[in-house]
Amino acid sequence: MSAKNGSIKLVAGNSNPALAAGIAAELGLPLTKAVVRRFADMEIFVEIQENVRGSDVFIIQSTSYPANDLLMELLIITDALRRASARRITAVVPYFGYARQDRKSGSRTPISAKLVANLITHAGVDRVMTLDLHAGQIQGFFDIPTDNLYAAPLMVRDIKDRFDLSNVMVVSPDVGGVARARGLAKRINTPLAIVDKRRERPGESEVMNVIGDVSGHTCILIDDIVDSGGTLVNAADALLKYGAKEVYAYITHGVLSGGAATRITSSRLKELVITDSIMPTEAVRNAPNIRALPIAPLIAEAIGRTAAEESVSSLFD
Ligand code: R5P
Repeated sequence: MSAKNGSIKLVAGNSNPALAAGIAAELGLPLTKAVVRRFADMEIFVEIQENVRGSDVFIIQSTSYPANDLLMELLIITDALRRASARRITAVVPYFGYARQDRKSGSRTPISAKLVANLITHAGVDRVMTLDLHAGQIQGFFDIPTDNLYAAPLMVRDIKDRFDLSNVMVVSPDVGGVARARGLAKRINTPLAIVDKRRERPGESEVMNVIGDVSGHTCILIDDIVDSGGTLVNAADALLKYGAKEVYAYITHGVLSGGAATRITSSRLKELVITDSIMPTEAVRNAPNIRALPIAPLIAEAIGRTAAEESVSSLFD
C-alpha cells in the first residue's frame, strides 16, 4: 500500500484492542509499539516505543465508556506523537462520544461535542475519521478535515442476505432519525415508517404513534446509537401493537450501558445488530439476540485510501 505522507503507523489506545488488531490485520501492518498506562492516581502516561518521525500516524480510539478516560488517552497519545515529530496525525474515532450534546438543549447548558472537537484539534490532530456521527453537522465543529464513514453498506449487505425484502419495512424509532432511516430504506428499496413519541400533556405518559402501515411487515429499526435500549424496546412494542409481524434493529454504535443487554434480551426484538465500533461487554457478547458486524474492513480501507490520498467518499457511492 502506498502512503504519500511518510510510512503508515497505527497506534491503538485502550478503547477497543480487538478492533485495532482487526484494522491492522486488514492493512497487513503491525500496531506501533506503545504503552498507555496509569499512574497510581490514575493519571494517564503514554510512551510511543518506536520511531514515528515523518510518519503518517492513525490513532485508533473510540471515546466510549469510560468516555472521559478514553478521550484523555486520545489527547495524550496525540501529544506524544506530535512531540515525536509525526508528519501527520489522524484520529480514527469510530464512536465519537459526547456527540449527542451537539446543541444547547436548554438555557445555560454546554455544547460539549464542540468542546471535545476543540480539545482534539488543539492536542495536535491533523484529521479526524469517524463513523456514523450522531449529526453530520458535527463535522463543522472541526476546522480540520473530517471523514464521516457510514456503516450503511455493511448493514445493507447483511439485510439483503437475511430478509425477503418484499415484506420489509424500515422504521425510524424517532422523528430525529428519519433522514438516516430513509437513506437506508432507499438503498434497499423498501417503504419507511416512523415511530412518533408524544407526551400530550405534562405529567401524562408518552404515547407511541406509528406513522405508516406496518401491519404484517418485518420491521427493521435503524438508528445510530443504542444506549439504555429504551428507545428501541418501546419502538418494538409500538410496532408489534400496530400489527408488525416481527421487529429487528440495526444500530451502528452499541453503547449498551448498564442493564441494556438484559433489557434487549428480555424484549420482543428478534435481534439487535450493531457494529463493533465499541468493544462489546461480556453481557453484550453473551446476549443471544445481539450480533456485531465487524467494522475493521471498512475502516482499514478508509485508512489506506487516506494514506494514499485517494477518495474516501467513493467508498459509499
Ligand atoms: C438519540 O438521538 C439517538 O439517536 C438514540 O435514539 C438514543 O441515544 C438511544 O438511547 P437509548 O437507547 O438510551 O434510548
